[in-house]
Amino acid sequence: MVVANWKMHFTVAESVRTVRKMKSLMKGVSGVEIWVAPSFTAIEAVGKELSGTKLGLAGQNVHWADQGGFTGEISPPQLKSSGCRSVLVGHSERRHVFGESPAMVRKRLEGAIAHGMKVIFCIGETLRERRSNATARVLRKQLENGLLGIQKDDFKRVTVAYEPVWAIGSGLSANAEQVGKAHFLIRRNLVRLFGLKRGSAIRILYGGSVSPENIDSFSGIENVDGVLVGGASLDARRFTRIVRAVLKSKQED
Ligand code: PGA
Repeated sequence: MVVANWKMHFTVAESVRTVRKMKSLMKGVSGVEIWVAPSFTAIEAVGKELSGTKLGLAGQNVHWADQGGFTGEISPPQLKSSGCRSVLVGHSERRHVFGESPAMVRKRLEGAIAHGMKVIFCIGETLRERRSNATARVLRKQLENGLLGIQKDDFKRVTVAYEPVWAIGSGLSANAEQVGKAHFLIRRNLVRLFGLKRGSAIRILYGGSVSPENIDSFSGIENVDGVLVGGASLDARRFTRIVRAVLKSKQED
């Protein structure tokens, strides 16, 4: 799976232009699940461009209520009515820049799931936590806070994205060893929470300064089931190179 997170970039026209370029560059690409998460203002226009293609549409965040006095928020039915069936939840920028608490992230995840949406649940440690050897504890807590007790069948709607906070937008991606270790820990926790079969089936993406230049270093790492791409997804060519690299490594498996 490869996910483009456009964050707060692009006007509607720029979004449409970029997604058209992606579509044409990705002609003939199949065998890898691709999602694009545009800004809310562009979601409908991008959704129209994507309809009938293999590329999916995702929201960047979601509120848990269906409607109400929640200025600046967007609800699951609103996202769905714009053609969106998937959504990111708990992105580090939401947690760290906008102060979303673990409880809030959990409610967002539950709200999306209750509406039958697929969720990319983002977790990851800060540099300070990594330096103080707290990575394993932080990842465990984030997984428990987000997922413990969710209905067993709902696990199918969840994909976990490991995004170390220090690697996001910094140009400094985690190295293969760090990614391998973190994904192993995440897998172990998922198996503990959901049992072997279910816990092994949940996909785990890596995110944080993924680029066409470094994508090959993540392929082949055990428990890495795809990537979540920010900066490099703003350029249709660079994003397509990442998609093709992921596809190639899958075919070589
Ligand atoms: P980045 O962002 O690829 O620009 O580091 C990743 C993300 O925030 O999802």
